Amino acid sequence: MSPSREAAEVVIELSGVRKVYRTGSIEFEALRGVDLDIRRGEYVAIMGPSGSGKSTLMNVLGCLDVVTSGTYRLAGSDVGDLDEAELARIRNREIGFVFQGFNLLPGLSAWRNVELPLIYAGVPKDERRERAAVALERVGLGDKLDNRPGELSGGQQQRVAVARALVGEPTMILADEPTGNLDSVSTVDVLNLFEELHAAGRTIVLITHESEVAEHAERVVRVRDGLIQTSEAVAA
Ligand SMILES: Nc1ncnc2c1ncn2[C@@H]1O[C@H](COP(=O)(O)OP(=O)(O)OP(=O)(O)O)[C@@H](O)[C@H]1O
Ligand SMILES: [Mg+2]
Repeated sequence: MSPSREAAEVVIELSGVRKVYRTGSIEFEALRGVDLDIRRGEYVAIMGPSGSGKSTLMNVLGCLDVVTSGTYRLAGSDVGDLDEAELARIRNREIGFVFQGFNLLPGLSAWRNVELPLIYAGVPKDERRERAAVALERVGLGDKLDNRPGELSGGQQQRVAVARALVGEPTMILADEPTGNLDSVSTVDVLNLFEELHAAGRTIVLITHESEVAEHAERVVRVRDGLIQTSEAVAA
């Protein structure tokens, strides 16, 4: 770890975070008091059994869901204090999200799926198409710009999802099982891409159940029953 990285600011700061889901009259505490600091430029893998709260945690980190109690400070701001517009601004600037199971829109071509975050960010049309094409080239899909998700393999769809996360040049990439449905060759491609983004100073947080994938990170955080069990540096 470089000295500058050790001194980097804490960009994600969770303290005492609880998340309670309500289904009818039943409550389920998916996060039961999570404390977690992630520094700018860190590469962190989150592991844990199915149902342990990983996606819930990621949705909180990505400001897609609000905490029931506790605080989440993102880039110095308490997310709970922000209004919708402020939240949208910070999310656009900071976060690229790769969802578990892609979340691509089936009726849109690859480049139209990738340009979506730029529409929300107010980028003009010509520039959107150009940047979407560049992002798709970066993930090796320069020849599939006009294909719809149904006309792509599972691995290619996942790479479209990664391109969509990258296109806005966010400072952080949050990825939920980005290699979950990929063959070993595509897994290596996606991991190489994350490696490049990390080398360029981006913060990477990824959920994985594969220890070979987690070994690419600098730190592994283990979640169990809605709590962080361990957080350990990966041996270089
Ligand atoms: N919207 C919801 N409403 C009610 N309960 C939910 C909701 N989302 C998740 N849960 C519950 O919260 C717990 C944690 O779910 P979560 O999706 O975070 O698990 P996970 O660790 O990502 O699992 P997996 O590895 O299977 O993706 C589970 O018991 C799940 O059933
Ligand atoms: Mg999940």
